[in-house]
Amino acid sequence: MAAPDKAIAKLRAEIETHDRLYYKDARPTIDDQAYDRLKKELEALEAAYPSFDFGTSPTKSVGDDRLEGFESYRHRVPMLSLDNTYSREELIEFGKRLEKRFPEQSLKYLVEPKIDGVAVSLTYEKGRFIRAVSRGNGTEGDDISQNVRHIAGLPEQIENAPDILEVRGEIYMLHEEFERINSVREAEDQALYANPRNLAAGTIKLLDPTEARSRKLDIVLYGVGACEPTRFFSHQAEIQERLKGWGFPVLENIWLTDGIESAWSSIEELDTLRQQFTYPTDGAVVKLDDFRLQEEAGFTSKAPRWAISFKFEAERAETLLKEISLQIGRTGAVTPVAILEPVQLAGTTVSRATLHNEDEIRRKDIRPGDTVLVQKAGEIIPQVLGIVESKRPADSQAFDFGQHLKDLGIEAERDPDGAVWRIASKDNPIRQQRALQHFASRACMDVENLGTAVVEQLVSRELAKNIADLYELTKEQLLKLDKFAEKSAQNLIDALEASKQRDLWQLIHGLGIPHVGKQSAKDLEASFDSLDSLSTATEEQLEAIDGIGSIMAQSIHAWFADSDNRELIDRLRKHGLDFTSKRQQNTDGAFADKIFVLTGSLPTLTRTEATDLIERVGGRTSSSVSKKTDFVISGESSGSKYDKAVKLGITILDEGAFLELLEK
Ligand code: IVH
Repeated sequence: MAAPDKAIAKLRAEIETHDRLYYKDARPTIDDQAYDRLKKELEALEAAYPSFDFGTSPTKSVGDDRLEGFESYRHRVPMLSLDNTYSREELIEFGKRLEKRFPEQSLKYLVEPKIDGVAVSLTYEKGRFIRAVSRGNGTEGDDISQNVRHIAGLPEQIENAPDILEVRGEIYMLHEEFERINSVREAEDQALYANPRNLAAGTIKLLDPTEARSRKLDIVLYGVGACEPTRFFSHQAEIQERLKGWGFPVLENIWLTDGIESAWSSIEELDTLRQQFTYPTDGAVVKLDDFRLQEEAGFTSKAPRWAISFKFEAERAETLLKEISLQIGRTGAVTPVAILEPVQLAGTTVSRATLHNEDEIRRKDIRPGDTVLVQKAGEIIPQVLGIVESKRPADSQAFDFGQHLKDLGIEAERDPDGAVWRIASKDNPIRQQRALQHFASRACMDVENLGTAVVEQLVSRELAKNIADLYELTKEQLLKLDKFAEKSAQNLIDALEASKQRDLWQLIHGLGIPHVGKQSAKDLEASFDSLDSLSTATEEQLEAIDGIGSIMAQSIHAWFADSDNRELIDRLRKHGLDFTSKRQQNTDGAFADKIFVLTGSLPTLTRTEATDLIERVGGRTSSSVSKKTDFVISGESSGSKYDKAVKLGITILDEGAFLELLEK
């Protein structure tokens, strides 16, 4: 292969990986700017060597957010992306191109904030909300209605509407809500979300609607896809007015400007205002106002020629990296954290930044004493972008992760299959403490009165080293702890007693099996009726479960194979912890283990209500139709799931028949 050929292939593969991480996994590993640079580089190469431009390229498409388990819908009008730029010159050039195209016209542009969220298309038929679909690959997206229809401010019904209307906008999360969720996660020792956009994207793609509803999302609408009949709009600015009139949340600050230079002034104004916006804004979108001209300008394969997005540079600052501190998690995993000389960035003081793991530190050659460049883009958690080499002290030495652990007296080993160092010994008091804190936390066994200070004392006095020890604590022992009296000791004993009846998923989560978080614990409970059946599951059985991948399957299997853990389980059993799923106990058996799939919108029940009913009789819901499905409950405008159920000969019920069946 010729050199440019190789470079093109390599860049395409790299960008495709980042597309998957961003759109499907909501877990990007690079920031927008770095990503946009890669894309520009590829575009330039493809333009310079058009003969190599074979096959598909990520420069010609809009990415793809579709996931297994969701029903796909075709957009009536495709959802495209926008060309973007970080430079004023390129923005002016965009305007010049349009002026050349329409020499007779004086062009008006609408300047809008660009919301850093997740694109969505809402379909209304005869004014009634029918469904919400993600952008998908631009042509076809996932039905995310069940996680969207509860968003505050979204009208269920609109008056004087066209027969068919696709309203386009952005789902986002407020900084406040993002911080609330992260602080709960921090208290529960779970990995933090990097920014509100990723968390919003992850939330709309949750298969568990109850979990999704526990996180507050917001929405703002700015555009229209299909509209039948079409007489409704002639200008972009008018769309805002109409949407507002129908009761949709719309962008508060927009500018209708004459010519591209004045559009630029509005962008500058927007930049000074955006700190005060409640929604995350990472740029401006400039749109030609007149629809007739929009139509004439047309589209490339992935973006309109009549609009462009101008992205603001992420804020960056230099500061001193004072030390690399090591944090220990519930499974003994050691996470490096940069302790920084406090610096002002995007309106907040930054004094810590995650360094992810040993490989990241090595790749960027980050050393204590370095001056580092930190960035807070959409990232609320600051990132260390790299070091300022010219400011490195002469006596600086590469950071030796293993040696640093030794110096701190922490005995840890690096995971053979990852970049994570983990404290190997279960006797390590910090690890013991973290494991107990996790077990007692709200997302696990919810043991009241067992906070950090108490756990610390229990471990340091060797009264509890593991979770089974907790159930052997006596009142006499507790009375010897600081600040404990008769009443508080009794309260803790009672709280521990009460925790024995928690849901199975809470117990599974509390065990602290590496990689198993709250959602996975729920997925496991949905597939196993007791801890005993989970503990004897093979890796293959585990991997067959929706939401459980091979790494997690291996981890669960290895955890239950460990003799210490088996002994722990036996002791928990002896102490009377409930190992069985209450979901199963509630049933009379008729629907136990029956798999239901919901599709379309039901006349009276919401998805959550229907799911609750199913679970109450011992059944469970799945999001995709397969041979294993027992019933499909189908509502209005159901699509591909319905067709598949017919093909597989699965019993299809409407809401009435479903309720009748439950009654029986
Ligand atoms: S208009 C034909 N307006 O940015 C595309 N998009 O980078 C029309 N976005 O896919 C899109 N704020 O998800 C438009 N005020 C705004 C926007 C906006 C955010 C998103 C949208 C789009 C992406 C392109």
